[in-house]
Amino acid sequence: MNFRGKKTLLVLSGGVEAVEGIRIAKQMGLDVVVCDINPRAPGRALADWFICADIYNPVDVASKVLRFAKKRRIDGVITIASDAVRAVAEVAELLRLPGISRSTAFVTTDKFIMKKVLAQKGVPVPGFASVGSVDEIREKIRAFERAVIKPVDSRGARGVIRVTPQEDLEEAFSRAIRHSPSKRLIIEEWLDGAQISAEALVIRGRVYLCGIADRNYSRLKETYPYVIEDGGETPSRFSPRIDESIREVLQDTADAIEIEDGVIKADIVLREGSPVIIEVASRLSGGFFSTITIPLVYGINITGMAILLALGLKVTPPDKLRPVCYQANRFIFTGPGTVTKIIAPEVEELPDYVKHLNIGVKEGDQLEEITDHTKRRGSVLVCADSRKEAIERAELLIRKIRIEVDTAKTQTRMCRM
Ligand SMILES: Nc1ncnc2c1ncn2[C@@H]1O[C@H](COP(=O)(O)OP(=O)(O)O)[C@@H](O)[C@H]1O
Ligand SMILES: [Mg+2]
Repeated sequence: MNFRGKKTLLVLSGGVEAVEGIRIAKQMGLDVVVCDINPRAPGRALADWFICADIYNPVDVASKVLRFAKKRRIDGVITIASDAVRAVAEVAELLRLPGISRSTAFVTTDKFIMKKVLAQKGVPVPGFASVGSVDEIREKIRAFERAVIKPVDSRGARGVIRVTPQEDLEEAFSRAIRHSPSKRLIIEEWLDGAQISAEALVIRGRVYLCGIADRNYSRLKETYPYVIEDGGETPSRFSPRIDESIREVLQDTADAIEIEDGVIKADIVLREGSPVIIEVASRLSGGFFSTITIPLVYGINITGMAILLALGLKVTPPDKLRPVCYQANRFIFTGPGTVTKIIAPEVEELPDYVKHLNIGVKEGDQLEEITDHTKRRGSVLVCADSRKEAIERAELLIRKIRIEVDTAKTQTRMCRM
């Protein structure tokens, strides 16, 4: 379908992970308005118009978009590689565009309300409770052998801290609460099973799977008490065996959060082989999963389909998942300190199987300890004909990227940890 400039799409986020999505919208012939707080956001270069607004502030976005819409009609709104669903719902409501409701956006961006709604509707979730103080954590943690606390209103693993009753809970509380704008935390039972990520389209109320990935948490010990993922592989090693049970749990989840048309993306743990929902988002995933991995592995243009749904247009549902290759991605980790040297392969010399390589730091940068996903130093994404080969390729490429860091200035802090 080519719209030849006949329809205009508003994309919330012009960040580096949104660029591929904006390119897909442009390839569809859409006029694109990009909205981002950063006037130098890389996605701006591809856009027809730019609105400078804080996408995590629905009021800021709505007022500026309404002003824009007086001059030019907007036909759809979507967020790509961000969690700005409250602003999406606000704009959709005000401009009477298709899209998720304010209530769905609210439920999917408050981890406590989300768990409550899912639990009420019988969707499997870990044991959980709302906590607002160290004393409350001390009381509630008794129900769990191992637990995790997190802000109800953050993302990117910021402030997600593993805890046990024996640990210094004051320190854990302070590490988590600083990432919560509303100063509210949730405590959950820590589930030990395999970690999975799944994404699906919801079309007229029915869930169609678009991708299932294994998440690699081999660094859990090293990064304790933080929970830092080091990439993963698609398709999941449990596919196709678990596909139907994942589809069913996502269907129940979509029903519970009341999505009729759109996208859902879930963090899942397999407890004794059965999926338990850790978190659900009412938007496309980031980390290049929706923009690069799903099209590459399954041949599904999920971003294009999500854009059609955002425009209120008909979408032919994707077929059952049939992977055509294997993907693996890995992240660059370093200790804290000053970057003194970066050695990396030239982009032009990379083999075709490298689908993405990004180094997010430069010489002279002062790096903090990696305490959440945003602080990882970069990533690679590759494909291959087998899972084993994909992992080997990703890990080999990661080893070829050397970021030298002078830790001298941060020794004191490191010793304390
Ligand atoms: N109760 C839990 N049991 C096991 N793993 C968990 C649990 N809670 C969080 N995690 C892991 O930590 C990651 C980050 O937590 P999440 O709730 O998804 O926060 P964020 O919104 O920051 O991504 C999850 O994707 C999952 O891998
Ligand atoms: Mg998550």
